[in-house]
Amino acid sequence: MLTFDHVTKQFGALKAIDDVSFKVKPGIITAVIGPNGAGKSTLVNMAAGSYGVSSGRILVDGVELQRLPKHRIAHAGLARTYQNIRLFDGMSVVKNLEVALVPPKVGRLVADTFGLTGRAAAEERRARCHAVLERLGLAAHAEQQAGSLAYGQQKLVELARAVVAGPRVLLLDEPAAGLNHGETELLKQHILALRAPDLAMVLIEHDMKLIMSISDTIVVMNRGQVLAQGNAAEIRANTEVQEAYLGQPGAIRDIEAAARGRRNRVRIREGEGLTWHQP
Ligand SMILES: Nc1ncnc2c1ncn2[C@@H]1O[C@H](COP(=O)(O)OP(=O)(O)OP(=O)(O)O)[C@@H](O)[C@H]1O
Ligand SMILES: [Mg+2]
Repeated sequence: MLTFDHVTKQFGALKAIDDVSFKVKPGIITAVIGPNGAGKSTLVNMAAGSYGVSSGRILVDGVELQRLPKHRIAHAGLARTYQNIRLFDGMSVVKNLEVALVPPKVGRLVADTFGLTGRAAAEERRARCHAVLERLGLAAHAEQQAGSLAYGQQKLVELARAVVAGPRVLLLDEPAAGLNHGETELLKQHILALRAPDLAMVLIEHDMKLIMSISDTIVVMNRGQVLAQGNAAEIRANTEVQEAYLGQPGAIRDIEAAARGRRNRVRIREGEGLTWHQP
């Protein structure tokens, strides 16, 4: 279980995260949604150790992540993907995954201690990478340079790299961004297939159709705070969420008028490609 406990993040004068508390349970998919700048990626960056917290605690199974150096966070079982693809373009797909199993910064002594060196260990790692590539439909691309793959495939390689070490917490930062309809559907099937009793998954997304169809619980962030949490039906019915989506109540009227030529209650419906209102 991943726990955000009264977490705050200050960037200079900006309070990007303002007293956020919620739990991410294993066995289910927890979505985090919210307008641009709401603080979603900042939560991931803090959990992964890229950013420190200004106050509060982030815990995995009771272990406080902020007390661990970054490479130990991966050992604690937390993996993430990036909003912008961060693959080693010139390396093969399978090498990109192997890197996740032996971080280059780990020295020889440390590697020996953890049993990461030696031919048998290397073969085992490679087999593991190939098994994950197979699972995500990427086996045919294993030896290709990551940078030469289509964008949608690169997003899947990022996912493969995140899951190869068998994390207990998986943070996906906009995995569907930039994907077409078919690629998004494929991604959805992969994410659903990854769901496991001992894996806590966080899905950050703007694609409401995807969110509403696969999330067990949805955390709505707005201006650094948790605005609401609930299942898809509860979030759809929440008027505060609708306003965060669409702007001020006046804006709802304008959008309604433009969309339907008459006043109606605006609802966030499955499949509606609404974009967030920019605060
Ligand atoms: N390293 C940083 N330095 C200063 N400000 C930052 C930094 N990272 C994020 N911020 C600010 O913190 C706020 C939250 O940003 P964040 O990237 O977490 O939003 P987000 O919800 O992921 O948005 P998006 O949907 O656009 O990805 C924004 O105002 C952003 O400009
Ligand atoms: Mg983001």
